Formats: sequence, C-alpha cells, structure tokens
Amino acid sequence: MNRIEGRVKVTGLATYAAEYPVEDVAYAYPVQATIARGRIDGIDAAEALAMPGVLAVLSSDEPPELAADADPELALFQGREIAYRGQIVAAVVAGTYDQARAAADAVRVTYLPQPHDVTLRTDHAGLYTPDQVNAGFPADTAKGDVEAGLAAAETTVDVTYTTPVLHNNPMEPHAAIALWDDEGTLLVYNSAQGAATDRTTIAKTLGLPEERVRVVNRHVGGGFGSKGTTRPHAVLAALAARKAGRPVKIALTRQQMFDLTGYRTPTIQRLRLGADRSGRLTAIEHEAYVQSSTLVEFAEQAAVVARTMYATPSLRTAHRLARLDVATPSWMRAPGECPGMYALESAMDELATAAGLDPVELRVINEPDTDPDGGLPFSSRNLVACLREGARRFGWDRRDPAPGIRRAGDWLVGTGVAASTYPARRAPCQASAVVRDGDFHVRVAATDLGTGARTALTKIAAGALGVAPDRVHVEIGDSDLPKAPVAGGSMGTASWGSAVVRACEALRRDGQEGFADTTDEVKSDAALARHAFGAQFAEVRVNAVTGEIRVPRLLGVFACGHIVDAELARSQFIGGMTMGLGMALLEETLTDLEFGGFLHRDLAQYHVPACADVPDVEAVWIDEQDDRLNPMGVKGIGEIGIVGTAAAIGNAVHHATGRRIRDLPITPAKVLA
Ligand code: MOS
Repeated sequence: MNRIEGRVKVTGLATYAAEYPVEDVAYAYPVQATIARGRIDGIDAAEALAMPGVLAVLSSDEPPELAADADPELALFQGREIAYRGQIVAAVVAGTYDQARAAADAVRVTYLPQPHDVTLRTDHAGLYTPDQVNAGFPADTAKGDVEAGLAAAETTVDVTYTTPVLHNNPMEPHAAIALWDDEGTLLVYNSAQGAATDRTTIAKTLGLPEERVRVVNRHVGGGFGSKGTTRPHAVLAALAARKAGRPVKIALTRQQMFDLTGYRTPTIQRLRLGADRSGRLTAIEHEAYVQSSTLVEFAEQAAVVARTMYATPSLRTAHRLARLDVATPSWMRAPGECPGMYALESAMDELATAAGLDPVELRVINEPDTDPDGGLPFSSRNLVACLREGARRFGWDRRDPAPGIRRAGDWLVGTGVAASTYPARRAPCQASAVVRDGDFHVRVAATDLGTGARTALTKIAAGALGVAPDRVHVEIGDSDLPKAPVAGGSMGTASWGSAVVRACEALRRDGQEGFADTTDEVKSDAALARHAFGAQFAEVRVNAVTGEIRVPRLLGVFACGHIVDAELARSQFIGGMTMGLGMALLEETLTDLEFGGFLHRDLAQYHVPACADVPDVEAVWIDEQDDRLNPMGVKGIGEIGIVGTAAAIGNAVHHATGRRIRDLPITPAKVLA
C-alpha cells in the first residue's frame, strides 16, 4: 500500500507546522545565553525595541505568567539564573522574521558568570544514583554474586566504552505557530510527536485547562525523539503571541536546534563479563555513567539492556548520574537501549574473541529461557532465529577465523555481528470510527512523523472492519481527536492500533459508530517480558593508509511480531540502521569545554550518513506470531533498527584490523592512532 500522504508530500502540498497560512502573523526570535552558568545582570532592550517592525521583547525583566510547577526547561523568563549556554534569555517579536532576527542581535544581555562544569567523568564528585532511571526502571539491580561469578570464570573481560553527545537532525526543523482567540483559547501548530501530549504540557506550562489548548501536527518531518517532549519554542510562540496580541510563528534554525531540542547524553559504560570453558556466562556487570542538567533529572536507562539479553547466574546493573551545566538531555531513537547495546554487544564480541568462540555461537549459548532479571516468561523471543537467519544470509560461515588477516590492496576487510532489542510496550489510547456515505472514518490523535503511521492505521482499520483500505479514512494529527499517546517508545502502532481495532469492532456491533478507550485493556495486560529482537551483520573495509572506514554491507534480521506493511517496516529498519551507522562512524557533538554549549552546531560539522555512505543496507524479518501483545500482534519497529548497529560495525572494524576502538565514533584519526 502506498503512503496515503505520499502524493501531497512529494508535490509540496503537505502542510508542516511553519507553513500554515495565518493572517497577520508575527515572528519570534530567541536570544540565547552566552555563558554556561551564572546570572543575568541586566537586559537592555532599548535599541532592539526601536528597530523597524519590532512589536515586543520578552525577558525576565517582565516575567510572563506561567504555572509555578512548569518544567524548568519550559519556564521561560521566570528567573535570572543561567543553567547552560544557549538557554533562552529573551526573545524579540517583530513583523518579519528578518526584523526579529536583527533585533534579537541588538538585545544587550550582561551576565555575572560563574565557573561551569560540562564534563562527564567517572570520578565526578557529584555522581549519584537516581531513584529510578527513565521509563520507570530501577537504577540498580543485583542478582547473584558478580565477584564470585568473575572469579569462577575461565574467560573475563573488563572494558569501558564511551559514546559522545549525539543530536537528532530531523529534516523538518522545529517550528510552531501560536494563535490566541478572543476567548483566550490557544491553537498551536507545532512540529511535535504527539498532539495530545503536547497539549497537556503546553496547558500545564501556561496554567490553562487542557480544553483551552489545541495542538495540530498533521505532518511532521521527522523527530526521532527530539519532538517527543514539548520544546521551549512552542511555549515561546504562545507567550510571544499573547504579548504581541498577534499570531506568532517561530522556526528554529538548525544551529538553535542543537541547543534547544535535547540530545543523547554522552555515556561512559563499564562492562565486566565472565564465561566458563564452554562459553556460558558466569557474570554480567554493566555500569553506565550519564549526564543531566542542573534543571531537570533526565536519567538515560543505558544499562537496562543487560537485564534482558543473556542468561547468567550473577548480574549487576547500575546507573550513575552527574548534573552538569548543560542543557537537559532528551530522547533520541532508542534512548537507553541504543548506547547500552553498543557497550554490551561490543563487550560480548570481546568475550567471544578472548574465549576463542564464534560471536554468533556465544550469543546462542547464552540464550535465556526467561527474562534474566525478573524471571518473567517472554511473550515471544526469537533472537536465536534472527542470528541464524542472518548468519545464513550474510554468509557468516565463510568468515575468517581470526581478526586482521584479510586484505584487498590497501583495504582491510572484516565482518561483525551484534544483537538488537527493544521493548514492545503499548499505552492507553482512544479512537472513534463512524460510517458516513458508505465510507469509514477513523479518528485518533496519532502522529505520522514520516513513519507511515497514517497508512499503517488505515490498513489496521480496514482489516478490523473487513473492508478495502480505500474505503477507510484515518484522521490524525490534532489534539481535538480522541486522546492518544506520543509517537515514541516504538509504541505508536501498538497503542493507537489497539484503540482503532476496538473502535472498529464497536462500530461493527453498532452498525453506525464505535468508540474505544483501551485504558482498562492495557491495565489488565498479563505480566510478561515483551521485547522485539534482532541481529545485525556488518562488513567493513578499513583503509590501512588513510584510516577511512566504509561499510559495503549491513544486514538486519528482526523479529518484531506481525509486520503491518512491508514497505513501511523496511523503511523504519533501514532508517534506524543508517542512523546506527552514523553513530558508529560519523556522529558526534563536541562540547565546548571553555564556554559551555556545543561546538558542533550544523550539518557541516555534525555528519549524518549520506547516500554514498550506505550503499547496501538490507533489512528482513522472520515470521513471528505473538498473540499476547495487542489485537494486531505487533511489536514496535521505529527504534530497534538503530540498536546494535554501532556494535556490529565496531566489531567488524576489530575483525578487519585487529584493533578495538572503544570510543565512538570510530574515526579515521582513531584508526590511524
Ligand atoms: Mo523516540 S526516542 O521514542 O521518540
């Protein structure tokens, strides 16, 4: 099935947040802190206010009214303290974008700076154990005796990996238009991953009842997590529109996005593994060090993957968090699982090498019967099938037995493997379905980020109704629609689809219309370990002279329950794998140690893979039936594609060169060193 909005997208008719025609719209442009920590001493807006077209300047000189319990990242202009370089300290509203931008440059902000600390390290004095880490997991777990397990092991590894700050770079920069009507009701066209969730946050921030706010996000040009939480630009648009008495548009520049839309925390991860003579794990210890801002505790759950992957009698996982003078990290495709599996799956490869075992076999040997941490049965788990199918397709049996022995001219050639995993959750959702003029209209406040959600939901509804998809019209992207969770956590299809199926079933009983709310259904889901799994295989070529690394082949084999649409699914998988390739070799945001903030601030400095970097990425899946997930039997597919890719490539670099690089990205300079 072709994407329903494919034609309007490729013809430029799809309307994105900044593109809604709004009469009399004005423009806001933020002024950002130039220090990493301290206080605002003074704000002189006189010159800016006198410039052409300027309507207003917002700043803490006149703090706008906001809820007292607003998220500190969104509580604009409430205080004088600076928590990170790039924080919004003022904004100019003007008749045109260029007027606003020019005047923002003329706002004079003086500061009382204080020394800052922007460096995550394992001996940081402020490290602490958070009460819990993201998604509600305990920060630390312990089972058995890790020291005894390591002491009893035939082979051990004790290795530390680091991953850098990473930034989401969706094609559509973050943007919003805010309009207040005469009754004080706010409409926001926002580039957001969830209309309903965004409405809730904007209403809470402004201290408004939810029914006084509406968020519309019919088309969104990617997000990867950066639009999963309400960002300050949306609140700024609302405040600016209120102050100027006109609708206000704000469109962040690519450079501003690096400061204001979140990022993946850097990580330092120590892995200690032990295995007996046959390769059975005797111990896993996974410690993750991550950072957050001084404003908000954001604790990325990097070490939770070790609780799911392998059978072991002793297992310890721990998270330590440092609060630095940095912007608050946020979600980036598979937050937690992605950096965590880079470390765990690299360490498994090191263990295989140390033990003289094939890395596919090492994983197969350690396949658990039940969830290694909680002991719950898996709803379904087909990691071994993915490894076997991948090995067959990839030609793994022809792999050189030792690293560093295959050379083609100047190129060293190697292959690597890593496992993938991601939770298969769902969240409560509402949906409605009605018959009108013989067609079926389904409504749910879902979001299509470019994933194809609209198309997938149409197929799901058509299946539930027993009619052809062209008789089904799915309306999404508006908080006025039945309430739905965010497009995030790979939960969209499972959550929205469950409600759509139930609404369609209700329509079939009623004959005219149906409504569903899956809150009770989701609450009564049986206690099971629900995860998608996969296996990724990479071939790399490393130039012995220049250190250049190419990836001629990437293969992912996934087990993700029922696949709703093959074309959309392939797109998600290879998109995730491509992003994983970027993480392995290219992507890195350097922190400015001297001034705070980030040194990399655009696509010339932050390199994402381009077409020439990814000549052959193949994603396939195995048939997996799992009736205990949701009515469709689906597991999410948006994130698992990125999980494990970087480890597979790093492991292949080791196989090619005999050298292990434990700090991402694996650059030519590191290879040559
Ligand atoms: Mo994604 S990081 O769950 O938006």
